Amino acid sequence: MTVSTLDIRPLRGCGALIEGLDPNRASDREVDAVREAVFHRGVVFFRETALTPEQQIAFARRLAPIVVNRYFPKTERHPEIAKVEKAEAQTSNIGGGWHTDHSYDAAPAMGSVLLAVETPPTGGDTLFADMYAAYDALSDGLKATLETLQAHHASAHVFGTEGVYGKTDRPELAGHADTPEAIHPMVIRHPGSGRRALYVNPAFTTGIVGWSREESFALLGWLYQHAVKPQFVHRFSWRPGSMAIWDNRCTWHNAMNDYQGHRRLMHRITLDGVALG
Ligand code: SIN
Repeated sequence: MTVSTLDIRPLRGCGALIEGLDPNRASDREVDAVREAVFHRGVVFFRETALTPEQQIAFARRLAPIVVNRYFPKTERHPEIAKVEKAEAQTSNIGGGWHTDHSYDAAPAMGSVLLAVETPPTGGDTLFADMYAAYDALSDGLKATLETLQAHHASAHVFGTEGVYGKTDRPELAGHADTPEAIHPMVIRHPGSGRRALYVNPAFTTGIVGWSREESFALLGWLYQHAVKPQFVHRFSWRPGSMAIWDNRCTWHNAMNDYQGHRRLMHRITLDGVALG
């Protein structure tokens, strides 16, 4: 797809690479095209941007209103930007494990704008999985069953007082009192593209409404291994200045933690969303 000088190249598995766009000089039409590409491809990547924090915020605001993440540390001067950081001596990273952001909110975040500030010499890639494709590949029978189901999503087991981060060397990410829960359909109709997507994820989905724990885990476990088959996944390698904009309603992501002894710093802005149906 080409919009004026904007080159949007679909990538194998998930997402698209956008070339020929300086986010600082994007026209309204180009911003609309980026948003459309995010809605339809799930995630778009830019190489070699040189955005200051102010410029990243300004570009994100043109895509959607910004919502401040409750749990992540903020950059010193810009509360809109969360620091996704792993220091040389730390062993746990942020976002390691398949998830989609904020599914525990009644109106989950639309997406995120992640800018690489400092990257390790090797490793530190992020995997993205396409939940449109994962849904499309299901049988008609399972699709029809899933469309009748809703799932619980929660945040306390990750960020609350007993949250998993509290058992790692990132205890500052746990211990929070504000831990929302929500119920969403297991298959959503994406509000931007109109396409159906699988909407459960391994990190925040805690069960299927009306099903026992064992029954829930059996079906969810099957869906989780299905959704990350290689044909639905793209692995993105970052360099300083690389930027990804993803849509949380139709993708999952998973930050690789394979660069022990090196620092990785990303600036993340979260984009506000709407209730899902
Ligand atoms: C996140 O889960 O938001 C972080 C992803 C990454 O650092 O690659």
